[in-house]
Amino acid sequence: MTDSRRWLLYVRANQNEPTDIPWPLATPRQDALGREIVRSIQQVQFGENATGRHFLDLARRHGRATGDADFPEAIALFIAEEQRHSALLGRYLRLAGSRCLDRHWIHSAFRRLRHLGGLEAKVTVLVVAEMLAIPYYRALMDVARCPALEAICQRILREESQHFLFQGNTLRRLQRGRSRTYVALVHLAQELQLAGTSLATW
Ligand SMILES: [Fe+2]
Ligand SMILES: [Fe+2]
Repeated sequence: MTDSRRWLLYVRANQNEPTDIPWPLATPRQDALGREIVRSIQQVQFGENATGRHFLDLARRHGRATGDADFPEAIALFIAEEQRHSALLGRYLRLAGSRCLDRHWIHSAFRRLRHLGGLEAKVTVLVVAEMLAIPYYRALMDVARCPALEAICQRILREESQHFLFQGNTLRRLQRGRSRTYVALVHLAQELQLAGTSLATW
């Protein structure tokens, strides 16, 4: 079985809407930290809601060029999974009496970075975002003090760990045949991006 087929089977099997979120138990924190939590969820909710049109287009082209027909569908379902994260966070924001953002400078900067190159550049940037999602949702879960938000974070964390593996695997495949110097330079660029984005996330 190819890597793309394996990931496709995973995302297909994971398409169910979460039924384990105790929405009636949503009790958003009302203190100063609660307000910070809402502000940070607003940014992340917006980021999770990317349409992924450019990504999907690149994935289709890659699928055609390499004969990897499963890859575009795996990417389409991966994007849909991210949008489900956004929908969960959006519902929580509404319960918290807040609203969803329609723009944010961090995401505009990220979008510009991702659009700089082809599929490989896009996945290179994405892997770092997936890596940062894990400590973010863990931290959110730790301070939530709300059963609904904790359940949302648990669900998203399970999926983000898979995304990290999926995109790491994709990047490794895209880099096959690249020189060691090239891969070392990409790693250096990723470390710089990780440092900058960690600071912005913090
Ligand atoms: Fe996500
Ligand atoms: Fe993700």
